[in-house]
Amino acid sequence: MQTENFEPLLVKNSGYVFLKKVCDQNDGTLIIAEAQKDIPFDLKRVYYINNLKNFISVRGCHAHKTLRQVIFCIAGSFTLTLDDGATRQKILMNHDNAGIILGQMLWHEMSEFASGTVLLVFASDYYDEADYIRNYEEFTEICRKGGGK
Ligand code: TYD
Repeated sequence: MQTENFEPLLVKNSGYVFLKKVCDQNDGTLIIAEAQKDIPFDLKRVYYINNLKNFISVRGCHAHKTLRQVIFCIAGSFTLTLDDGATRQKILMNHDNAGIILGQMLWHEMSEFASGTVLLVFASDYYDEADYIRNYEEFTEICRKGGGK
């Protein structure tokens, strides 16, 4: 994979994860993610998102205090907006084996979904609503004061 062709990530607490992809011509492709090797933590939760309404749906719109995640677009495409409180960046997600790390205190929004898009997310911990920051003003205020936990 020509990883140097991917646009640099300008926000804090992010990064790319490139997964091994085995192309079997007429028999499709196989993509592999291993905890601690590819995904930079032990997985406790995996979830996927589908049935998106193309250009109407918006997901995310929150940050996490401690949770770490890696997000993939395993089919279709969408726009991932990242915001670390100082820098905002939009990334076109359209490679099935290139994920983005959603680190701590990184506001993220997913939108502009192509038809048939499927998102896959690996998470470092179980679901905990108390770990979410869902209010953008609260998020920027915490960032201004020097970050989460
Ligand atoms: P949310 O994380 O806000 O979704 P997204 O970031 O994709 O827009 O979660 C939506 C709802 O689903 C919310 O009520 C919490 C619930 N939920 C769980 O119960 N467990 C989970 O692992 C996740 C991710 C969400």
